[in-house]
Amino acid sequence: MKAVVVEQYAPIDQIQLKDVPSPLLEPGQLRIRVEAAGIGFVDGLKIEGRYQTRDPLPFIPGTEFAGAVTEAPGAPGGYQPGMRVMGMTRSGALAEEIVVNPEAVYPLPEGVAAEVAASFRANYLTALYALSTRAMLAAGERLLVLGAAGGTGIAAIQIGKLLGARVIAAASNSEKRDFARAHGADTVIDYTQADWRDTFKQLTDGHGADVIFDPVGGEISVQAFRSIAWRGRHLVVGFAAGAIPALPFNLPLLKGGALLGVDLAQIPVREPEVQKRLMSQLTAWLADRQLKPVVGHVFALEDFREAFRTMQTRSALGKMVVRIAA
Ligand SMILES: NC(=O)c1ccc[n+]([C@@H]2O[C@H](COP(=O)([O-])OP(=O)(O)OC[C@H]3O[C@@H](n4cnc5c(N)ncnc54)[C@H](OP(=O)(O)O)[C@@H]3O)[C@@H](O)[C@H]2O)c1
Repeated sequence: MKAVVVEQYAPIDQIQLKDVPSPLLEPGQLRIRVEAAGIGFVDGLKIEGRYQTRDPLPFIPGTEFAGAVTEAPGAPGGYQPGMRVMGMTRSGALAEEIVVNPEAVYPLPEGVAAEVAASFRANYLTALYALSTRAMLAAGERLLVLGAAGGTGIAAIQIGKLLGARVIAAASNSEKRDFARAHGADTVIDYTQADWRDTFKQLTDGHGADVIFDPVGGEISVQAFRSIAWRGRHLVVGFAAGAIPALPFNLPLLKGGALLGVDLAQIPVREPEVQKRLMSQLTAWLADRQLKPVVGHVFALEDFREAFRTMQTRSALGKMVVRIAA
């Protein structure tokens, strides 16, 4: 099969597409023909060996995928050949085939395209978990989304709207702000302007942000916290800007505010029942088309490097997806 193979931790330009043997199927596992794989920020870090845990070399990158079951001896988890699924795994998705345990996949609702399903689970589960379970976002509250045109940002806008919030989307250029507005943001703001906090204050009639969804990090995080409303909740989602900010402790005191961490990887381990409930909610929204996940740009497997470059150069609108099989 064709697969992207990381033989040495290196920048994406040095990573090759290779012919490798299909993975072995162990008892109780499923073989899936991968139709599309979603590329996340973490995948880029893993390839370079810069993520907090390192995959042993050589490895096939890619954590999120959608496709069709081709082998399922004994029907593990009730899955049969031909069923379409979406899944998440530690690695291996940027390949024509993947072998996983049944717990790694969910059935794909009828009529949902593979590209959509491959951009769905990580970002939308992160957004729903963060906004509903951690921040307890209530209808009518003001939600400030940083990095709003990125993969998690656009998911937070859509989930925020489904939960009834008033969404203010912050992004660095007009194309990104238009993209955020087109996907549901009520208002947009250019957070690269020195006076963006004054503009934000006016936009919220002096109230500030009840909830801040923050996948960006760096100096902007501290600035945003300074614009939080009384009893506001700031969700720590990621550090796309690179720097991990340090928050002066007097700010939460003065604002009655809370800093809340979000880690998608720990939800199935520490809160499996919550994950189950949130996934049922997401798949129900997906099935009845209340939620239309945003596919940013779809690349052919041969062009996988371009998918990473687009994300790594801060040019991505939404989530990058690699199409693998028809
Ligand atoms: N906690 C979790 O469970 C969880 C789950 C998924 C992702 N994450 C993390 O969340 C972060 C964002 O993921 P994502 O998928 O939303 O990424 P993304 O699609 O690349 O979006 C990140 C956004 O951050 C902004 N940004 C600011 N400085 C940047 C820089 N130097 N380089 C790149 N982007 C920069 C960009 O918006 P502007 O240009 O508008 O500023 C960009 O749109 C990553 O650190 C990822 O690992 C965490």
